[in-house]
Amino acid sequence: MITNTELEYKGNLYPNHIVEFKQDNHNLYFTTENGVVLKITVLRGSVIRFRYATNYIFEPDFSYAIDEEASLGYSVLDVNENETEYTIKTARIHILVDKMTLRIQVSDLEGNIINEDELGFHWEENYEYGGNTVKMSKITQTGESFYGMGDKSTHSNLKGKRVENWVTDSYAYGKDQDPLYKAIPFFIGLNKGKAYGIFFDNSFKTHFDFAHERRNITSFWADGGEMNYYFFYGPDMSTVVGAYSNLTGTPELPPLWALGFHQSKWSYYPESNVKEIAKQFRDLQIPCDAIYLDIDYMDGFRCFTWDKNHFPDPKRMISELEAEGFKTVIMIDPGIKIDRDYWIYNEALENDYFCKRGDGPLMHGKVWPGECNFPDFTNPEVREWWAELYKEFMSDLGVHAVWNDMNEPAVMEVPSKTAPLDTRHDYDGHPCTHRKAHNVYGMQMVRATYEGVKKYVYPKRPFVITRAAYAGTQRYSSTWTGDNVATWEHLWIANVQMQRMCMSGYSFAGSDIGGFAEQPNGELFARWVQLGVFHPFCRVHSSGDHGDQEPWSFGSDITEIVKKFIEIRYQLLPYLYTMFYKYSKDHIPMIKPLVYYDQEDTQTHFRTDEFIFGDQILVCPIQEPNAQGRRMYFPKGRWYDFWTNDSVNGGKERWVTAELDKLPIYIKAGAVIPKYPIQQYIGQVEIKELILDTYFKLGVETSEVYEDAQDGYDYKKGRYSLRNFKLTGKEKSLTIQQFKDGSFITEYETLKFNFHGLPFKIGKVEVDNEEVTLKSVRPNGNNTFHIDKNFTLLHITSK
Ligand code: NOJ
Repeated sequence: MITNTELEYKGNLYPNHIVEFKQDNHNLYFTTENGVVLKITVLRGSVIRFRYATNYIFEPDFSYAIDEEASLGYSVLDVNENETEYTIKTARIHILVDKMTLRIQVSDLEGNIINEDELGFHWEENYEYGGNTVKMSKITQTGESFYGMGDKSTHSNLKGKRVENWVTDSYAYGKDQDPLYKAIPFFIGLNKGKAYGIFFDNSFKTHFDFAHERRNITSFWADGGEMNYYFFYGPDMSTVVGAYSNLTGTPELPPLWALGFHQSKWSYYPESNVKEIAKQFRDLQIPCDAIYLDIDYMDGFRCFTWDKNHFPDPKRMISELEAEGFKTVIMIDPGIKIDRDYWIYNEALENDYFCKRGDGPLMHGKVWPGECNFPDFTNPEVREWWAELYKEFMSDLGVHAVWNDMNEPAVMEVPSKTAPLDTRHDYDGHPCTHRKAHNVYGMQMVRATYEGVKKYVYPKRPFVITRAAYAGTQRYSSTWTGDNVATWEHLWIANVQMQRMCMSGYSFAGSDIGGFAEQPNGELFARWVQLGVFHPFCRVHSSGDHGDQEPWSFGSDITEIVKKFIEIRYQLLPYLYTMFYKYSKDHIPMIKPLVYYDQEDTQTHFRTDEFIFGDQILVCPIQEPNAQGRRMYFPKGRWYDFWTNDSVNGGKERWVTAELDKLPIYIKAGAVIPKYPIQQYIGQVEIKELILDTYFKLGVETSEVYEDAQDGYDYKKGRYSLRNFKLTGKEKSLTIQQFKDGSFITEYETLKFNFHGLPFKIGKVEVDNEEVTLKSVRPNGNNTFHIDKNFTLLHITSK
């Protein structure tokens, strides 16, 4: 153990004793004798920002990650000092700052230590580039677990792992390969039932070591920039994830069709091929809302152009597809072909929009079209120009949505796979090299795309998808996990990645269903669809050079299974849309690992497979061939088998059966699950009733259903319909109260309750305190009622 009185140890520099303290409202400044300033900002009672400057100087305060609309405000802030330390008290936590070492300790109000510095902040000067390598080390407790960190393809509990964040084109990546496409430097720690989070908002390459190098130490560091992190206290994991998600933002609601099933391939062309695929969906009655055009629609891979041989009249094609219920999503890459006859290239060149190398020449690199230059999307003027380029595509041709790829940026045939590190960027008026801008480059590209698409699809809602992302990108775009492989291991990876993304504030994500590289067999494809329909973004995509990967490509048995599961997704659309609403508004992740669901149950700390879809559906994918079933863990509570209505009590592992046409799906007791009838695409059929699959519980459970016009912005003016159902089950009765909010009038008039697991035979039914004859509630079968959608109290008693 070293003391900070030795100012240098193993090449690292350390702060020494505090010589000055200043408070400026919610900012507290601690200055050490050797010129380190710690600035603690209290954002909320349990959200604290820590920044460290060396040589007294902070960088200008600028971040791409933070949402302008993040909530701020706290009730209590007291600072006291004694001989050895300062104590900062908020209504939720106490922070000690050691006077001799500047080390921090955070505890809850009962005095339990939540997180404490080991060496705390230290740094190494970087003589090559200037600035510092900034470092932080903290003490890890024996039973502590770690979660989050974006798209890492490793075990969900990060204890014992070391990872880094450097967005990277990772074709056919493997389990544990790192880094991948995203840089989300946010983790959640869980110790003795209490959770906290740390978001290290630094866009340089960042590194995290979770008790890997030293068993009792967690450390994180960056190749440059500032030690600048946000600390979130729980004690519930949901509070931590919610606070991070609030700070970095959530997307607005997407158009509902974006939550439907999407079909993609590299590439569908020419037009006749696109039409054939679309027709097959309709002929086979397999629901599908969107079809994707990968790079081959372009003329020589030039962005914003069309190959007129293959697509002679894109406007007509898009409108014909639209008439069949298909949205067209097109790809746009960042690299602009160096070509004197290409107007976009010329315009960018004339306006000085391309990135330059350290000494001035344009940065260039090879991508699909050959040698390209790359717009500097960290320049706001370039983003505005880029946004305007979408005008023709969206407004004139009727393109519905845009897919940004290769935006790490990926560069071919160079070992770094990306731009040289001396490439210069504007970074919104904070000029820097690629070392600092690399991780945000793709984010700023898709941000510009989002602005353009949003403007030109108006009054409809935009839908955008990106491959590269930094923390905060979720405000602009959905994402997918890049170039995975058609193997069973990758099905496991997709499941872990999606849970991890959701815990990292990025819920609107999915994998290339079936695998991008290589060809799945029918069984793997079916199992992957079964998982994929329970991911927020649901798209089949493949590299296309190994054979077909459409729902009908693997024989009729598989087609039937795939169809059945896509239909389940379409039935669950109101449930899924409500999940999105809660994510967007209340920062609740759309899917949750079991540890999020019940952090007090230590069984959940190392589970990877089971997850909760929304709040009330437990799903467990089958991840190996020839399975007739598997063992799965049921978290606390009572769960109904989706297929048989049998119910089981949680808190243990059990064997569950799952032939190829079945996936283990369980519904939480007390849940009211809203469903629509199957439709081939959003808006195809009139919704005549809202189906409410209601699962009996002894006790109380609440459920919500959010609906609106499914597109457009009227919902922001209050034109939405939010139904809140409070179910109270007793031995011989069941009550459901409905509370409604919003002024949207749904097109249906009736609600169809399907009761599952009722422990008694229905004798009397009262709606709003009036007894109704069973005839007037139109029972169909024993346990099904139709009642008016505006009821407030439904009371059912036994015979
Ligand atoms: C790489 C992307 O990850 C993949 O999805 C796409 O099909 C190819 N680029 C071609 O555009």
